[in-house]
Formats: sequence, structure tokens, C-alpha cells
Amino acid sequence: MNSPKNNQPTIFVIFGGTGDLNARKLAPALYNLFLDGWLPEQFAIIGTGRTELTDQAFQEKLLADINQFSRNGKAKPATWTTFAPHIYYQVADVKNADTYQAFAGHIAHLEKEWSTKANVIYYLAVAPEFFPIIATNLAKSKLAADPECTRIVIEKPIGHDLESARALNKLLGEIFDEQQIYRIDHYLGKETVQNIMAFRFANAILEPLWNRNYIEHVQISVTEQLGVGDRSGYYDGAGALRDMIQNHLLQLLCLVAMEPPVNFNADEVRNRKVDVLRAMRRFTPEEVRESAVRGQYGPGWIEGKQVPGYREEKDANPQSNTETFAAVKFFVDNWRWQGVPFYVRTGKRLHRSASIISIQFKDAPHCVFPPETGESWQQNRLIISIQPEMSIRLQVQAKRPGLDMMLNTVDMVFDYKGTYIAEAPEAYETLLLDTMLGDQTLFMRGDQVEAAWDLVMPILNSWQGRTSQSFPNYSADSWGPEVAEALIARDGFHWFSLPLNAKK
Ligand code: BG6
Repeated sequence: MNSPKNNQPTIFVIFGGTGDLNARKLAPALYNLFLDGWLPEQFAIIGTGRTELTDQAFQEKLLADINQFSRNGKAKPATWTTFAPHIYYQVADVKNADTYQAFAGHIAHLEKEWSTKANVIYYLAVAPEFFPIIATNLAKSKLAADPECTRIVIEKPIGHDLESARALNKLLGEIFDEQQIYRIDHYLGKETVQNIMAFRFANAILEPLWNRNYIEHVQISVTEQLGVGDRSGYYDGAGALRDMIQNHLLQLLCLVAMEPPVNFNADEVRNRKVDVLRAMRRFTPEEVRESAVRGQYGPGWIEGKQVPGYREEKDANPQSNTETFAAVKFFVDNWRWQGVPFYVRTGKRLHRSASIISIQFKDAPHCVFPPETGESWQQNRLIISIQPEMSIRLQVQAKRPGLDMMLNTVDMVFDYKGTYIAEAPEAYETLLLDTMLGDQTLFMRGDQVEAAWDLVMPILNSWQGRTSQSFPNYSADSWGPEVAEALIARDGFHWFSLPLNAKK
């Protein structure tokens, strides 16, 4: 069954078709969309790469990838047999004009066969240094000339700093209309991330509390247990600030801090997010030292297994100054948030993988109970758990059962697992479908990317200018360097502690 919402014939041209992103994310997502009836009847996937492959060999490769990485497990032979004929392969040298002529021929052939014009989506699942050449050649060969039915998808990192992001946006802007450009930040496709807007803007009870009068501070943590592994080649030139904070964590911050949009129109939503980024306080070099800290993991043990330090990872630079952990205290200088700190932290090789937003409310103004009743009192907290647990919990005080009046903290929980039977789609399913439907709400607009770079540049510049003498400064399986604890402890707070579902 195909969705009535998506009946537009579509051709996906995936540059980097034999690469990791297609194997792990894109192919499984397209297959799951097919399973759930979200692909149009007339669709084709043209994978491209430098390796010579037949269509059949490419289909077999994708089948193996889907069997390994799809959330739905192994493909059923009967379904696969109907899906596989939609997959083609074309060897490509992205620098060569003939490659693009061959695409044009293939697209024309499919359109003739379908007797209709198709939407064509060019997905650049390749290293960022290839974005300009592919975009330029698509333009030269007139493959992206029709803004109504051609789109280009690129993944972060969008630039390496403000200047390179501007240059890339400028180049793309000369070739495509902004409505054709889909910049992916995969966090925006996560079910729980999308729900932040639903939670905030579909419930009237929250808005009166959602400001500096009631909220004391906000924490956003994206912690990862995995190390850098064999990605040193990319990661060493990036670091936690570029890899995670400039995009994923700032996107989460924007969703928490943004003003209510007038409607759910892509530009309206993105305008409200850009407002947040523009209102965020820019750091002077002195403020960077006070408000941003970094770390790099040393060797250690995780779950009984010995793991190398960052400088000992495969192909790593043994003197690397790259941070694998970063924590920053931001402020949003506007009417709603003046004076409310937003603490964000992210790091690799930490004790547990979890993405959590914790919104801490101010103290009750007056305690009517005798002090001994409140031995385990905490301020109210709203905890939005993005992954792996998918839940929203409100921590409140309640009377403990018994003859005496004792209070403690309890959780009111909305848990996806307990509430819904259907499994949440993967982020890439949502994002690929939105690309097909032409809905840019969950994609980064060029000015948004630049505003985020503009915000982090003082930190980047300061860190690049100062070699850290303390690296490595945290061990595997910890919660990061001590300086991160000090950053928040100075204000009298502590990082929200995990795991969420620990018994009290
Ligand atoms: C990517 C980063 O954007 O996000 C990786 O480049 C990081 O370093 C990953 O591991 C985290 O994504 P997720 O969905 O696993 O939280």
C-alpha cells in the first residue's frame, strides 16, 4: 500500500552509494518507508560510487546492509523481491562531466518508462570536500535546473567554521534555491526531539511556567559511551564542539528556548530558532575561559573491557589537542530567558550513552512543612529523555505513605514504550520522507547554520590558540573532566545524574 500523501514519482540519486551512511542509515530507512507504504509506486534508487558494480551486486550489498542495520530486522524474501528492482547502480567519477550525462540519461529513461516527470533527490552521502564539485557539476549539466522537482541533501558538517560555512552556503545559493537545499541534522528527525515542539506548543499549562520567572536553569547532555574508534581522520580536525555542540546540542537548545511559532510552516519554525541563536550571548576571550571547558579521554575500562585513550586510537595523532568532551554555559539574552543559564555538555567514552534535557524549576517560595519532612526534597524538574530511554518525566514532591508527614521526590512519567505499541521510526525515515514531501521544517536553513557557527567561533578560536596542558583529563567510563563539574558547581548546581530509572 502506498501513502496517498506521497504519490509523486521520485528518483533518489545517492552519491556515496557504497559508503557507510547509505549502508547503515539511508538504505534501511528507504526500505522501512517502503514497508510502511510511504514510497510512491514509481520510485528508483540510483546508487553511485567509484567501484564498478552491477545493479544486482549493488542490490545484494544493500540487502546485506538492511539485514544488518534495519530496525525491522532481516528483509522478508517476498518483500525484498518487490523492492530490489527499484535499485540501480551507476559507477561515477564526480569530477567527470560524463558521469552527469549518464545520470541525465538514466533519469530520462525512467521518466519515459513512467510516462511522467519525477522528483529527483540528489543525496550527497560523501565527504564534505566533494559537496562543491558535485553541486557545481549538477548545475553545469542542468540536472538541478528545475527548483520545483529537484532537491539536494547534504549532511553535517556544513563547513568547518563560520567562513567555510558561508562559502558553502554561497556556492549552493548560486546553484539552488534555498527551498531545494536540505541540510540534515539527524537529531531533528528523532521522534523524541520532534516531540519537544508538540509538548511545548500543544499544552497550555506549560507556557506560563516556561520562562525566567519559574525556570532556574536548563541542562542539555548528550553523552556517548563509544570512543572515536576508526574515525580519527575526520574527528581530529573536528572535536566535540564542532561535531556535536555547533549542531545537535544547539538545535536542542533552540527547541527549548524558541518562542511559539505562529504556525508549523518550515520558515516560521526556523525563524524562531534563528531568533534564539541571534539572542545568545557571544563570549569574549575571558568569558570563554569561564564559560567553556574541554576534555580528552585517556585509556580505561568500559564494562570489563580495556579501551584505548583518544591519542592511542587507530590513526590518531599522539599529541592531539582535539577535545572529545566539551561543556559550555550559554545565556539567551532576551525577555524570556534573561539570567537563566543553559548548560550543555557532550563527550565520548563516558559512563553511559544518553541524551537528556533537564529543566530545573525554582524552589517553592515558602516551605510550609517542618524541615525534617523534606530530607530528600528536590526542586521540580522536567526531564526530557531523548535516547535511549524515550520519556518525559516531571519530578514533583509527594507524601511518602506512612503515619508521619514525610515528603520525597516522585516522577510523573510519560514513557513511549508504555504508551504506544508502534515502534518509533528512525530519524532518517522521517527526514527522507520529508525530503520527498518537500517539507523543510526539520532541516537546517543556511542562516541558522551560520548563526550557530558565529556563536561557537570565539570558543573554537580560543581553544585552537591554547594547547591544553591537561589532556588527557578524563578516563573512560567517567562523566568527563573535573573542570566540567566545577563549571556548574560554581553556580551551586550539579549535572543531572543518570541513569534515569535508578531506584531511589
Ligand atoms: C554525529 C557525530 O553527528 O552524531 C558523531 O558526528 C556522534 O560523532 C553521532 O557519535 C551521535 O548520534 P546519535 O544519533 O548516535 O546520538
